[in-house]
Amino acid sequence: MLVAIDGPAGSGKSSVSRAAAEQLGFGILDTGAAYRSLAWAAVESAADLDDPDAVMAILDTWTYTITLHGPQRVTVDLGDGVAHDVTAAIRQHAVSGLVSRVSQHPPVRDRLNAMFRRIVAESALPGVVIEGRDITTVVAPDAPVRVLMTATAAVRAQRRAGELAGLTHEQVLADIEARDAKDALVVDFFTPAAGVTLVDTSDLNFEQSVQAVVDIVRAAQ
Ligand code: C5P
Repeated sequence: MLVAIDGPAGSGKSSVSRAAAEQLGFGILDTGAAYRSLAWAAVESAADLDDPDAVMAILDTWTYTITLHGPQRVTVDLGDGVAHDVTAAIRQHAVSGLVSRVSQHPPVRDRLNAMFRRIVAESALPGVVIEGRDITTVVAPDAPVRVLMTATAAVRAQRRAGELAGLTHEQVLADIEARDAKDALVVDFFTPAAGVTLVDTSDLNFEQSVQAVVDIVRAAQ
């Protein structure tokens, strides 16, 4: 069973998808972690993030791993046989500010999308929730459950502010809007595609948002 979930930054998509997957006994594939790891790897290897060939060269040599079950662990081997644990590093504010530059390159997206499909295909779990920006439309348009999770920009900034100590609400709002605007040039994750269920979490708390997703999946099982 494949559950595809898209949404903008701070919509609750990552934490809600994870909790819903846990309740369902499914795995969770956070695709943003791969784009974040790629931005981290580009900085680490002093590659030009705006040069698609330089970013593709990293994809040619790296080995990327991510856990689908239990606590998230992400590792990147840049080709030297050392698996760096980047689980915490990729959540840093600095990485969030850079990641749209690597995710804008179409060949990079194609390569990562193929990797996502392979990871899901190789999983022995009864189901996988896969979340990102273009999962319902590009990565898994045939998934039996497809959800677009949204929330107003103000609500999303409020949720993120709790995670980013030291930044004002206005700074977080400005960062989220800038990242969404840049990402939305490449992928539309604000309009549900045909057959995609819209879940607006603006007025839902965390538990209610998780329940909404679990209910949609159960109805499709
Ligand atoms: O979901 P998260 O905020 O961790 O995603 C980080 C970044 O990765 C996004 O801002 C976007 O640039 C990129 N991304 C993407 N397509 C996806 C998932 C993430 O372009 N499917």
